[in-house]
Amino acid sequence: MISNYLLEIAYLIGSISFIAGLKLMGHPKTARKGNLIGAAGMTIAILGTIFLHPNFNPLVITLIFAAIALGTIVGWITAKRVPMTKMPELVSLFNGMGGACAALISIIEFYNSQQTSVVEHSSIGTMIAILGGMIIGSVSFSGSIIAFLKLNGTMKKPIRLPSYNIINIIVLLLTLVLAVYFAVAEENFSMLLIVFAFALLYGILLTIPIGGADMPVVISLLNSFTGLAAAFGGFLYDNKIMLTGGILVGSAGTLLTLAMCKAMNRPLSNVIFGAFGGSSAAGAEEAKGSIKDISASDLAVLLAYSKKVVIVPGYGLAVAQAQHAIKELEDLLESKGVEVKYAIHPVAGRMPGHMNVLLAEANVSYDKLVEMEEINPEFEQTDVVLVVGANDVVNPAAKTDPSSPIYGMPILEVDKAKHIVVIKRSMSAGYAGIDNLLFYNPKCSMYFGDAKKALTDLIAEIKNL
Ligand code: TAP
Repeated sequence: MISNYLLEIAYLIGSISFIAGLKLMGHPKTARKGNLIGAAGMTIAILGTIFLHPNFNPLVITLIFAAIALGTIVGWITAKRVPMTKMPELVSLFNGMGGACAALISIIEFYNSQQTSVVEHSSIGTMIAILGGMIIGSVSFSGSIIAFLKLNGTMKKPIRLPSYNIINIIVLLLTLVLAVYFAVAEENFSMLLIVFAFALLYGILLTIPIGGADMPVVISLLNSFTGLAAAFGGFLYDNKIMLTGGILVGSAGTLLTLAMCKAMNRPLSNVIFGAFGGSSAAGAEEAKGSIKDISASDLAVLLAYSKKVVIVPGYGLAVAQAQHAIKELEDLLESKGVEVKYAIHPVAGRMPGHMNVLLAEANVSYDKLVEMEEINPEFEQTDVVLVVGANDVVNPAAKTDPSSPIYGMPILEVDKAKHIVVIKRSMSAGYAGIDNLLFYNPKCSMYFGDAKKALTDLIAEIKNL
C-alpha cells in the first residue's frame, strides 16, 4: 500500500534528522539548529505514524491529539520557565517520563496480547522486548524521580542503608529471577506487575545512596537506560524510528556518561558504588602555608594593566548567577586593550557544558571559550588567571597527591600563570570536599565574597581608574 511506503519514507527522514541533529549539537554554535532539526524529524515521524497508520481510528486520533496538546503545553511552559541552573532537574524529570512511557508500553502491550491472543505463550522475542522495556524503563523512571528530588533539594542527603551495595545487588538479582520466572512459568498480568514493582524499587535503591553532586552522571546513565527501553518498544512494535531514536539516545547517554567519568578520572563503578562527594570532607588535607588577600582596588589595577587575562569559571559562578557581571568585566578589560579568554574544564559546574551554556546566556562569544587541553599551554604567557567560583578543577592535588580523591583528574594548570586570583566566599572546599593547596601558592591571592557582588565591586573599581 502507498501509505506504507510513505510511512517508511517519513521514518527515514526522521532517522536522518535525528542523526544530523545530534551531529550539530556537538558544537555550541550549531546546537540550537541541531535541536530544531531533531524536533522536526520527530514531528514528521509522529504525524506519519498517526495519519499513515493502516488502522486509522478517529476516536484514537482525537485522544492522541488531546494528549499531545496537554504534553506540549506543560512541556513548553516548564522549559520556558526553568532557569539554566535548574536544567539538570528538568532533564531528569523529562527523562523519567520517557522511562515511564517505555514501561507503560510494555505493560499495556502485554495486557492487550493477553486479551486478544489465542496463543498461550508469547514468542521469546516479544517476551524479551516486553520485559526489557518494562524493567529498564521502570528503573529509569524511579531513579530519575529520585535524582530530581535530590537536585531540587527535597532529598537533602544521600540515604545509605547498611551494606546498601549488597542490598541493591540482591534486589536487582531478584528482579531478574522473577522476570525469568514470569517468562517461562507464570506468564500472567499480576506476575508482570510484581516484576514492575521490583524494577521500580531497584531504581530507587540505586539512586538514593549517590551524592547529589554526582547526579549529572547518574542522570546521563538513566538517560541511556530510557533510550534502551524505548528501543525495546521499537522491537515490540517493529517500529524503525522508535528503534533508531532509542538506540541513539542510549548510545549518546552512554558516551556522555563515560566522557564525564573520564573527565573526572573516576570509573563509573566509583560513581555508582563509591558514595563519593556526599559527605563534607572526604580526604581533607592539612592546610600548608598562609593565604593572601587582595582588595577590589588592587585587583582592578592588576587586571587593567595586564596584557592577557584568563578567567576560570566554576560552579560558584553559576550559583551566584554572575555570568552577566563576568561578561561586563570582559568588555571593560577589552576596552582597555587586555586580551581576555575563558578556560573551560570539561566538568566545571555540575552538568556537561554547564559553563558554556551559562556564559552563552550572557552573550560571551564562543570563540573566547577555550577547552582545557588548548588553554593549558597558554597559562605560562598569562598575566592574571581569575578563578571565579571554581575549586576542584584547579586543584593541584589532582597532579601531586596520590592519596587525593581527585588524583589523576586532568586540571587547569593555572599555577603556571604570573598571578592567580581566586574569587570565592570562604576557604570552604568544592564538590570533592578537599582542601586546595593552590590557595596557599605564593602567586595566589584570595578575593573573598559572593562572585556577583565581588565582580560588581571590581567593575566599579576598574571604571574609577
Ligand atoms: P567546585 O569544586 O564544586 O567549587 C565551587 C566553589 O564555588 C566552592 O569551593 C565554593 O566556595 C564556591 N562558591 C559557591 N558559591 C559561590 C558564590 N555564590 N560565589 C562565589 N563562590 C562560590 O566547582 P568546580 O571547580 O566547578 O568543579 C566542579 C566539580 O563538580 C568537580 O569536582 C567535578 O568533578 C564535579 N562534577 C561535575 C560534573 C559536571 S558534568 N560538570 C558532574 C559531576 C560532578 P565557597 O563556599 O568558599 O564560596
